[in-house]
Formats: sequence, C-alpha cells, structure tokens
Amino acid sequence: MIKRILITLAILGVPLLAGLIVTYEIINVEFNSFMEDQVSIKNQEGPIIPFPKDSIPFNGVPYVKEGRAAENPYPGDPESIARGEALFAIHCAVCHGDQGQGGGVVGGYFDPPPPVLDKQLLSNRSDAFLFQVLTEGFGRMPRMVENLSVQQRWDVVNYLRTLAQQ
Ligand code: HEC
Repeated sequence: MIKRILITLAILGVPLLAGLIVTYEIINVEFNSFMEDQVSIKNQEGPIIPFPKDSIPFNGVPYVKEGRAAENPYPGDPESIARGEALFAIHCAVCHGDQGQGGGVVGGYFDPPPPVLDKQLLSNRSDAFLFQVLTEGFGRMPRMVENLSVQQRWDVVNYLRTLAQQ
C-alpha cells in the first residue's frame, strides 16, 4: 500500500517539481515571452524592403497641417457635389440636420447644439479648414477620418460650398 502511494506521489510530484524548478528559474531555461524581443517586429533593421506598388492606398492629401493651405484636388463638379450630398445625409445630418440647418436627432443632445452650417459660417471657412475639421474632428465633433476616404471628405467639402451659397 505504502509503495503504491509513493509511486503515485512520484508520478505526480516529478512533473510538478520540474515545473517549479523552471518557473522559479532555479534552472534557467531561455524562454522568450516578450514581443519586443522577437525578431518579427524588428522590421526596420537590415535591408528595408520597399512596399509593393499600390499596397498603401493613397489618393490625395491625407493630412493638412495647421496654417498650411491644401488645395482641393477635386473640382466641385455636379458629380462630386452629388456624392457629397449623399455622404452628408449619412454622416452629418444626424447632428447638423438635413441641409445643415440644425435639428438633427443626435444634435439635439448637444448643448450647445452643433452649429448651423450656413452661408454665415461657411463663407469664412476655407476648403482646407473644412477638410481638416472632417479629418481631425473639431471640438466636440468626432473626426470622420475612419468613415470617409480622402476623396469623400473633399466631396463633402464641395457639397458644403453649395450650402455656403444659399
Ligand atoms: C456627432 C455629431 C456630429 C456629427 C456626426 C457631425 N458633426 Fe460637425 N459638429 C458637431 C459639433 C458638436 C460641432 C461644434 C463643435 C464645437 O464647437 O465644439 C460641429 C462643428 C462642425 C463644423 C464647424 C466648424 C467651425 O468652423 O465652426 C463644421 C464645418 C462641421 N461640423 C461639419 C460637419 C460635417 C460636414 C459632418 C459630416 C461629415 C459633421 N460635421 C458631422 C457635431 C457633429
């Protein structure tokens, strides 16, 4: 009987003991658990392999530095304005109202409410500024960079220009 107990303890105890020895580094086994030590992320070392062509989507000015005017690369043609209007209905109207006149469902929760996007406000804003507002957000307004591509943001700017004329 005692023999059996000893055998059982040995069977259970040996792996446990081995585990403890390694865990408490009594015998130090090189075991890499830090991501930064892995070769895989040191990708800027050695020869830098150029990105395959067109692997990074880029179709215009991605970021406008403050004070530096970016040219609107998309002419405000009817197609661009129509795209902008559709995008406005999806992404902006909930806060700014259908034509930017206020009264958006979500906008009602803001105090003070989102500004009315009319001639008075927009005629003082450059295209680059509006693009920046959409890219970076503005005060309490969330940024739209995840929702709208570069071209889509300029389309919305072109649509806003038509509101500025009303
Ligand atoms: C979640 C609500 C919300 C959404 C969605 C939203 N806005 Fe706004 N917007 C605001 C608020 C709030 C402000 C005022 C921010 C402040 O002054 O703190 C604002 C401000 C602005 C301004 C004024 C900047 C200035 O010069 O005073 C513009 C232009 C604008 N939004 C355009 C847009 C456009 C275009 C969209 C859609 C792509 C949009 N907003 C989507 C809430 C929103």
